[in-house]
Amino acid sequence: MRHITRRSFNKFLTVLPLAAMRAKAIDVAASRVGLKDAFADCFRIGTAISSPTLRDGNEPLLDLIRREFNAVTPENCMKWARIQPAEDRWNWTLADRYVDFAEQNRMYTVGHNLIWHSQVPPDLFVSNGERVTSEQLKVRMDRHIQTLVDRYKGRIHAWDVVNEAIDDAGGWRRSNWFEILGPEFMERAFRLARDSDPRATLLYNDYNEHNPGKRKFLNELLRDYRKRSVPIDAVGFQGHVALSSPDLSAYERSIEAVAREGFKIHISELDVDVLPRATASADVDRKEAYSTSLDPYANGLPGSVQQQLTDRYIALFEMFVKHRAVIERVTFWGTYDGESWKNDFPIHGRTNHPLLFDRNLNPKPAYRALSSGMRRS
Ligand code: G3I
Repeated sequence: MRHITRRSFNKFLTVLPLAAMRAKAIDVAASRVGLKDAFADCFRIGTAISSPTLRDGNEPLLDLIRREFNAVTPENCMKWARIQPAEDRWNWTLADRYVDFAEQNRMYTVGHNLIWHSQVPPDLFVSNGERVTSEQLKVRMDRHIQTLVDRYKGRIHAWDVVNEAIDDAGGWRRSNWFEILGPEFMERAFRLARDSDPRATLLYNDYNEHNPGKRKFLNELLRDYRKRSVPIDAVGFQGHVALSSPDLSAYERSIEAVAREGFKIHISELDVDVLPRATASADVDRKEAYSTSLDPYANGLPGSVQQQLTDRYIALFEMFVKHRAVIERVTFWGTYDGESWKNDFPIHGRTNHPLLFDRNLNPKPAYRALSSGMRRS
C-alpha cells in the first residue's frame, strides 16, 4: 500500500480550494475545534450514538461528540425490533432522547433505519402461525413507516429508508421483504417515507459498495427509479472497510458511478477493521469462532499497525475530499474503539481498534493526521 505521510497529505490539500475552510478552522476557539470544522467546506462529519450512551448518559463522550461531529445516527435504537418490538407497541424513550440531543446541538440528524431484513421482531413475517400475506405485510410496513417518520417529521433530516436489499452477487437479497412483497417492497418504502415527510432526504444504504455486482445492480435500479419518479435522493455507502481491502480504486469507481446517475452519496458507517478477518462481509448474520491468533491486539495496537490505520484513513479521506462535490456526509460507526460493533463481529469478544478515538477517548494518530492535516495546510 502507498505510504502517505502527513506532509504529503498536507501537500495534497494545498492544491484544493480550501483556503476559506482553513481560515475558519483557525478562527474557531482551539478547544472547540473538531473534525467537523476541519472538513466544514467539504462535507458533514458524523458519528453513531449507541443505546447505552443514550440510556445512561456519558458526559465526556457526549461532549466529545458535540465538539467533533455535526451529524449523528442512532446505532440501534430506531431499528424495528427495538422501537416497535411487538405490533403497535412502541419504545420511544431512546429515540426521543436521540432526536432531542441532535436538535439541541444543531446536528444533521439521521434516522436509521426503516426497512431492513435484520433486527426485526420474530413474528413480523408471521400471522396466526403462518407466513403473513402480502396484504398483511403491506399494512405492517405502512404503519411502521408512517408512525415513525411522522413522529419526527421536520426533525430528522435524512432517513435510511431501506438497508441492505442487494446481495453480494448483484441481485435482490432473498429477504422476507423480497420474498413476500417482491422487489416493489423497496419503492413502496420510499414512497411512504416521502409522503410522511416530504422534506427529509431519503437514502438507500448498503455495505460492500465497491463490489462490481452491487455497483451495477444499484446503478440500474437508480436509473429505473429516476425514470419512474421513485423518490430516492441519495445512496449511503456504509464504509465498513479493512486495512488493505477493498482496493480504493474499486471503491472510487462506485462513487463515480452513483455520481454519474446524479445522486448524492453519504458515507454512512465508516470504520477500519484492523484484525485478521475470515470474511469481508458486514452481514450481521455471519458469525465465526474465536481464537487468540485472530485477536492479536488485545493489549494494544503496535506502532506499525497504528501507522497503517493512519495511512488508511488518510487515503480514504483523500478520496472523499476529491469527491466532495457529491459526498454530503462522512459518518463514523461509533466514536471510540471500546464501543465498536467490530469488537464482536464477525467473532465475539475480540479487541478491535477501528475508530479515531481509543478506549480512553484519546485521539489516535489517525485523528491527528486528519484534523491537523486539514488545518495546517
Ligand atoms: O443489548 C444486548 C445486550 O443486552 C446483550 O447482553 C448482548 C448479548 O449479545 O446483546 C446486546 O445487543 C446487541 C447490540 O448490538 C448492542 O450491542 C445485539 O445482540 C447485536 O445484534 C447488536 O448488533 C448491532 C447490529 O447492527 C445488528 O443490529 C450493532 O450494535 C450495530 O453496530 C450494527 O449496525 C449495523 C447497521 O445498523 C447496518 N449496517 C451494518 C452495521 C454493522 O453490522
